[in-house]
Amino acid sequence: MHIHNFSKQNTILNTFVSEMRDVSIQKDSMRFRRNIERIGEILGYELSKKLSYKPTTIKTPLGVCEIEKIDNDIVLCSILRAGVPLHDGLLNYFDKAENAFISAYRHHKEKPESFEIIVEYLACPSLENKTLILADPMLATGQSMVATFEALKPFGTPKNIHLVSVIAAQEGIDFIENHFDKDTHLWVATVDEKLNEKGYIVPGLGDAGDLAFGEKLQQ
Ligand code: URA
Repeated sequence: MHIHNFSKQNTILNTFVSEMRDVSIQKDSMRFRRNIERIGEILGYELSKKLSYKPTTIKTPLGVCEIEKIDNDIVLCSILRAGVPLHDGLLNYFDKAENAFISAYRHHKEKPESFEIIVEYLACPSLENKTLILADPMLATGQSMVATFEALKPFGTPKNIHLVSVIAAQEGIDFIENHFDKDTHLWVATVDEKLNEKGYIVPGLGDAGDLAFGEKLQQ
C-alpha cells in the first residue's frame, strides 16, 4: 500500500487537524465539520496527482487551448456518519463523481473492547473498472474500512482504490494493509501512535461522529 501521511510537512492542513483535536475548539460542531470538509478538499487535491489524465481541447472566447483533464470515472464512498463532511470535501473537488454511502457501526458485545462491525445500509453504483475513493475520517482498528470494502465487492471490481482518512492509528494501517491490494493508496492527514482499550485513537480527537453531529444513545 502507498501511504501518504501529510503531517510530515508543515502546512495549513495541520492547523485544521489541531483544531479538530483541541478540546477548547472541537465542540464548535460547525467548525469541526468544516475542518473535516477542508481536509477532504486538500487530500482530494493531493490524490488527484495520481489520477489518469487525457488531453482535451478547450474553446475560450479568444481561441483554443489544450488541457489535461481527469480521465477516471470516480465513485466516492463514505462511511456514515462521520464520513459525511469528508465526502462533502471530496465532492467539492470531484464534482462529477458518482456517490455511494454505507453505514458501518461497532456493535459492542459483553466487553467494551470487543465489538463487531455491522453493515446495514448500502447504496452504491457499479464500481466496475472505476476509481473508488473510500472515505472514513477515523481509521482506528481498520475493521470498518475492511468490512465496507467486503460489502462493496458485489458492485464490481474497481480499477484503482484510494482510501482517505483524517487520523489513522498505525495498528489500523497495519490491519488494512493485509486486506487491500498493494497498489491501493492511503491519504491521511496524520498517523497517531495507538488505540486505547475501546479501540479509540490516542491522542486522536474523541468520537468524530458525535463531534460532527451530536451525541447518540448507545444501543
Ligand atoms: N471513531 C472515532 O470517531 N474516533 C476514534 O478514535 C475511533 C473511531
